[in-house]
Amino acid sequence: MASLRLLCEDITMTAKRILLGISGGIAAYKSAELTRQLIKAGHQVEVVMTESATRFVTPATFQALSGNTVYTDLWDPRPSNAMAHIELSRRADAFLIAPATANLLFKLAHGACDDLISTLAAARTCPLIVAPAMNLQMWQNPPNQRNLAQLRADGVTVFGPGNGSQACGETGDGRMLEPHEIVELLNGFFADKLLAGKKVLLTAGPTYEAIDAVRGITNISSGKMGYALARACRDAGAEVTLVSGPTGMPAPQDIRRVDVASAADMQQAVLTEVGSTNVFISVAAVADYKVKNRSEHKIKKGAVVPTIELEENPDILATVAGLPAAPFCVGFAAESQNLLEFAEAKRRRKKLPLLVANLAQQAMGADDNQVVLLDNAGQHPLPQMPKDEVARAIVRHLARLLPSR
Ligand code: CTP
Repeated sequence: MASLRLLCEDITMTAKRILLGISGGIAAYKSAELTRQLIKAGHQVEVVMTESATRFVTPATFQALSGNTVYTDLWDPRPSNAMAHIELSRRADAFLIAPATANLLFKLAHGACDDLISTLAAARTCPLIVAPAMNLQMWQNPPNQRNLAQLRADGVTVFGPGNGSQACGETGDGRMLEPHEIVELLNGFFADKLLAGKKVLLTAGPTYEAIDAVRGITNISSGKMGYALARACRDAGAEVTLVSGPTGMPAPQDIRRVDVASAADMQQAVLTEVGSTNVFISVAAVADYKVKNRSEHKIKKGAVVPTIELEENPDILATVAGLPAAPFCVGFAAESQNLLEFAEAKRRRKKLPLLVANLAQQAMGADDNQVVLLDNAGQHPLPQMPKDEVARAIVRHLARLLPSR
């Protein structure tokens, strides 16, 4: 029953009405994919375009993808009261402009109302979000930075820009974020700020214990669950630091990531960061043992088969939970049998207020997960869901437990 309520809360949170504004930059081609991904994430999308944007991609593309009429003209007589600039923004939960060109940012910062998008922005009652896209020199141009600062001061949210190679052939800041990054940030924008003002430290991914210069012992952890939890904490308003083993996953936006390899490195990074942390979430699949007789150089094949000697690694979670001013500690238990019995024993042994139990063979590397939350009140099973949704459910549960401490 409790788990069903958690799931329903999640669906309500994600379905929003997005008014998507497209201005005239080459990144407009990415907005077609953005429209598709917004709809896939459960949102309703209505598109408005500047006249220049229609030179890059036609309104028909967005009409087909959004399933809604595309508006480009302030004088369009189709809205029922013939006032597109009022009506379209009134039925939106957010006005997202992606791409937002330097010229459009200038107009928004100065309250211009000379086309449909700028007039909609001025007349809106919903939040305004811009995803800038421009050449790196235009991005750094002092007037552009002044316009950005003014927009931020006016309460406008800015997504990005990203850094990388640009359509003009130069490399640097100014790229529009990728559609999946914008959707992720938008979902976070709407999330309840249950962890506002909290600092959260997480570990994620596998560790790597070197045998010699080129070989090592690791495990099949993908880091997906830990990264999903880091994003969910960020979206809930927390300041997040992620200590990550080698996963190959990109660092999420607005999350400070510390890269480590071995369990010893991970422990050192965690103890360096843990100072003012309110919550520590230990998702990493930490190797219990490291190689005692590690070779500095590559071991050569010889007549004798080499023997690898192991010695115990520190238990990072137990160490943090045992600190005199320990943060609220959340552990994970990956078991292959007797899930609840082994997990509850682990929770008590490591003295954890909350532990997330999952079946190792089902969870590791997968996109979905089915977990049971164990706390002092008992067991709370959740349905099988994508890891992002599992993460949001864990954050909601965690936030409910936090104030009592
Ligand atoms: N953990 C840790 N440091 C370790 C081992 C585990 O911080 N050296 C943390 C994990 O991140 C996880 C929890 O402890 O949150 C449980 O990890 P798990 O591998 O399931 O259990 P172990 O304690 O290693 O016990 P076992 O391997 O016997 O199941």
